[in-house]
Amino acid sequence: MQQEIHFVTGKGGVGKSVIAAALALKFSRQGKKVLLVELGDQSFLKDFFDLADVTFQPHEIKPNLSLALWTGESCLREYAQYLIKVESLAKLFFDNAVMKAFINIAPGLPELAMLGKITSGPRKYGPAMNFDCVVVDAFATGHFKALLAAPSGMAQAVQIGPMGEQSRSIIRVLQDQNISKYHIVSLPEELPLKESAELGEYLKKDFAVEPGLVLNKVLEVNVPLTSLQNAETLTNSDLGMFAQYIEQQLTRQKMMFDQAKRSFKDISKVPLFFETEPWKLVEKVVEKVP
Ligand SMILES: Nc1ncnc2c1ncn2[C@@H]1O[C@H](COP(=O)(O)OP(=O)(O)OP(=O)(O)O)[C@@H](O)[C@H]1O
Ligand SMILES: [Mg+2]
Repeated sequence: MQQEIHFVTGKGGVGKSVIAAALALKFSRQGKKVLLVELGDQSFLKDFFDLADVTFQPHEIKPNLSLALWTGESCLREYAQYLIKVESLAKLFFDNAVMKAFINIAPGLPELAMLGKITSGPRKYGPAMNFDCVVVDAFATGHFKALLAAPSGMAQAVQIGPMGEQSRSIIRVLQDQNISKYHIVSLPEELPLKESAELGEYLKKDFAVEPGLVLNKVLEVNVPLTSLQNAETLTNSDLGMFAQYIEQQLTRQKMMFDQAKRSFKDISKVPLFFETEPWKLVEKVVEKVP
């Protein structure tokens, strides 16, 4: 089976981690062996799901669903170990403070290492990745663009040799629509939607991929409009004002949805669930993600 890679991005706080977890859970229930990866040095899902630990090495948290946390440094370290083979030598190299500082400032190097690891399955490069599907809880919009730009930056800087070749093979995987899928999460609100549309344009124009939009926290009210409007006649009461607020929200949401349709072909709507138990929330979201 060809491995699939799903990238989940969007403005800060819009629900990327929850949507990524729901996608991962959904695929695992389809019988796929799934790896959910958080990028960065802190795991949100560790606390969210109350897990003992989330590390570079994946741990199974549900049947067929493993979770890992990858930083640029940890991916680079593994890559170097794979190249150098001798662990002690790689250790010597990485535990050097000057080297550490260099790695973290060399433009795009941590990002390149992360993408190298993420795409290592389809590229058949590096330690085995025994998963059918990798779901990446990726960075927010701006940093995500920088992440995707890293391989072409490197390919331009070093045109020959293994680094250039690897960068080009990473780009090929990222642009292969059968392998790499992009999900932009947004709230049905002006600013996040504007940011999402801009990122969508960038992905289409500069990257030649077609991202889908996940509109998250959509207010769903199972009250007929007439009842809502009846309640609105109760002026001077909280209920009347609340009904007015809800109707305005619904009208705005409709506008936002129409606006989103101009930028995205694929749009999924995920309701705002009044659910505080994390796994229950994710299970409800599973029914709504693409
Ligand atoms: N559809 C939903 N219904 C109800 N609550 C939700 C929904 N989606 C996300 N949430 C809640 O919203 C909060 C933010 O979600 P989440 O942490 O997934 O966002 P994020 O985009 O990953 O944030 P960050 O940018 O900080 O990584 C969480 O507390 C989560 O439980
Ligand atoms: Mg998050």
